[in-house]
Amino acid sequence: MKKRPLRWLFALACFAGLTAMMAGSAVAGIVGSVHDLGQAWGDPQDRICVFCHTPHHAQVPSEENNWGDDYKPLWNRPDSTITYTMYTSQTITHSDRDNIHRAPTGPSKLCLSCHDGSIAIDSFSGNYMGTHYLVGDDFGENQITGVDSLHNDHPISFVWDDTLTNNDGELVDPETTLSPAHTGKTLQQDLLWETGKGTGVYKLECSSCHDVHNGPAAVAAGDNLLYLPQERGQICLMCHKK
Ligand code: HEC
Ligand code: HEC
Ligand code: HEC
Ligand code: HEC
Repeated sequence: MKKRPLRWLFALACFAGLTAMMAGSAVAGIVGSVHDLGQAWGDPQDRICVFCHTPHHAQVPSEENNWGDDYKPLWNRPDSTITYTMYTSQTITHSDRDNIHRAPTGPSKLCLSCHDGSIAIDSFSGNYMGTHYLVGDDFGENQITGVDSLHNDHPISFVWDDTLTNNDGELVDPETTLSPAHTGKTLQQDLLWETGKGTGVYKLECSSCHDVHNGPAAVAAGDNLLYLPQERGQICLMCHKK
């Protein structure tokens, strides 16, 4: 009998501790994230996945049979037809310096079907008459290309191979580093894009830094869906030895 109130207190303390923990950790997942577009744009059925995927009638990759650069995971949106100016600079190590890559590939193309501002967010399921566009290539704005330029953006869609790592000298080796996103795998396995299944040719894409689904590996507290926080340069130091 004497112990009972104590036990009750203990249970109360545990409960308080648990709720404090839950309040402190961000709830990961696409629900309620920036990509919960049914909520944001008022879909009458309040759907989520349909803005990007469909179980039927999906877009298929143009190189379906050889697993090339085109990636269409049950994709429910049209491709952008924009030709972009890609990033370059005097100090780029990549061998294709003057044209670090000719065009966005793989998952990056999927992102750009909204983030280049040329296709409406609510253009999906074969009805491409949507009216909500992302606008503005400025800080805090979510169209990042200024319509046709990836020239002012971190380089994407280029092959990151041993030659690049060795020639640069200040890049993390993507084959040996444990990816912070899913401990136990390498950066290459987790966050680079294998262009063609089993080819061993890996590229850096938008999805190397961002988790479109705001999944468990994404940074808490909505830091741009990044795999590591910007705090103390963590996301940059994941790849750059600076
Ligand atoms: C805003 C667009 C968008 C929405 C909404 C979205 N996805 Fe995706 N999804 C993508 C993109 C882009 C990729 C490919 C790149 C990647 O995986 O990072 C992808 C890839 C996938 C893949 C294959 C690769 C993997 O990660 O396993 C699955 C499965 C998937 N999505 C399921 C879903 C489900 C289920 C929903 C709804 C709950 C959903 N997605 C909502 C954009 C979206
Ligand atoms: C090398 C890592 C990296 C790559 C690759 C990358 N991003 Fe980002 N992105 C970031 C970081 C870090 C931020 C937050 C800082 C900022 O706002 O610029 C960010 C911010 C954003 C934002 C918010 C913009 C704003 O001004 O608030 C969007 C939208 C975005 N990225 C989309 C993309 C898309 C689409 C791609 C591919 C075309 C891409 N990112 C490629 C690192 C990256
Ligand atoms: C179906 C359209 C669509 C697709 C496809 C899409 N996005 Fe977005 N994205 C949006 C919208 C809409 C927003 C929110 C804009 C706003 O709130 O003003 C957004 C916001 C973002 C942000 C800002 C996050 C923040 O915390 O503010 C990032 C980063 C981002 N997207 C990255 C990506 C990346 C990377 C991909 C591909 C892997 C992608 N998106 C694919 C529509 C899309
Ligand atoms: C997923 C890995 C990865 C992440 C994360 C990443 N980078 Fe990079 N970054 C690279 C690679 C690879 C290159 C290409 C290097 C080359 O060819 O010189 C590059 C290129 C660059 C360049 C161009 C260098 C030049 O000579 O013009 C700059 C600057 C840069 N990154 C800064 C950043 C910053 C700042 C961040 C964090 C916001 C960041 N990077 C995050 C991998 C990454």
